[in-house]
Amino acid sequence: MPLSLGVAELADAARIAEIHTAAFGSNAMLLAQFPTPAVRTALKKSIELKALADIDDPKTTVLVVRDPSLETHSSNAASANEQTRERRNKEQVVAFAKWAHPVQPNENYVEPPWIWPAGTNLGVLDDWAKKTEEAQLRAVGNTPCYRLTFMGTDPSHRRRGAATTMVRWGMDRSRKDGAPAYLESTLEAASFYRNLGFVDVDKISLEYGIDGTEICSTYEEVSFLYR
Ligand SMILES: CC(C)(COP(=O)(O)OP(=O)(O)OC[C@H]1O[C@@H](n2cnc3c(N)ncnc32)[C@H](O)[C@@H]1OP(=O)(O)O)[C@@H](O)C(=O)NCCC(=O)NCCS
Repeated sequence: MPLSLGVAELADAARIAEIHTAAFGSNAMLLAQFPTPAVRTALKKSIELKALADIDDPKTTVLVVRDPSLETHSSNAASANEQTRERRNKEQVVAFAKWAHPVQPNENYVEPPWIWPAGTNLGVLDDWAKKTEEAQLRAVGNTPCYRLTFMGTDPSHRRRGAATTMVRWGMDRSRKDGAPAYLESTLEAASFYRNLGFVDVDKISLEYGIDGTEICSTYEEVSFLYR
C-alpha cells in the first residue's frame, strides 16, 4: 500500500516528537543546545507541546506521512471507535514536516513559542537562532515566504519518498501563491533539496563551546531557496 500524505491531527503530536527525537538525536547542534541525557529526555515533551501548538496554528501546516499497511495494536478491531482510530492513525505516522506560511507585513502574527526544558544551553540556542534569522534575511529579505522549519522521517522508513512528498507540498504551494520557499538544511540532507530544485543561498556557520569543556566546535548548515 502506498504512503499517504495528510495534515497532522492533535493526536499525532507525541509520535511527531518521537520521530523528531530519532531523526535529530545525533545532530551536533541539538547535542550542543541540549547537552545532557536528562535535558534531552525533557526536550521530547517540549517538542510535543510545540507540535500541538503548531497543529493548531493557522499559519503553520504540519504534514504527516502515514503507512496504512503498518500492522498496529488496534488494526484488528473491526469496529474501531474514535479512540482506536486515533491510536491506529498515530502509530502509522512515519514522517512529519512543518511548513510555516507566508506572513504579510500587516498581519499581527506571533509564532507559538517553544518552551525549553531546564538545562538548555540558551547561549548556543540564541546564537544559532540569530545566525538563522540573519541567513533568512540575506536569502529573502522581508519577502513573505513558505518556510520549512522542521522535517524528519523515522530512520526505519527512510528512502521511501516520504520527505520528497512533504517538500513537494510546500513547493506546490509556493508556486501557486507566487511566494518563495526557504529552508535551512543539515549538510547531510543538502543534496536531497538540490535534487528537488532548491538552490543554495549560503552557508550558516557557528563556532560554539562544548558544555563543561574548553573545546570549541563549528556547526554548519546550508540555506536554500526555491522560487
Ligand atoms: C532528510 C530526511 C528527512 C529524508 O527523509 P526520507 O523520507 O528518507 O526522504 P525521501 O525518501 O523522500 O528521499 C531520500 C532519498 O531517498 C531516495 N528515494 C525516495 N524514494 C525512494 C525509494 N522508494 N527507494 C529508494 N530510494 C528512494 C530519494 O531520491 C532521496 O535520494 P537523495 O537523498 O539521493 O536525493 C531524513 O533522512 C531525515 O529525517 N534526516 C535527519 C533529519 C534531517 O536532516 N532533516 C532535514 C534537514 S532540516
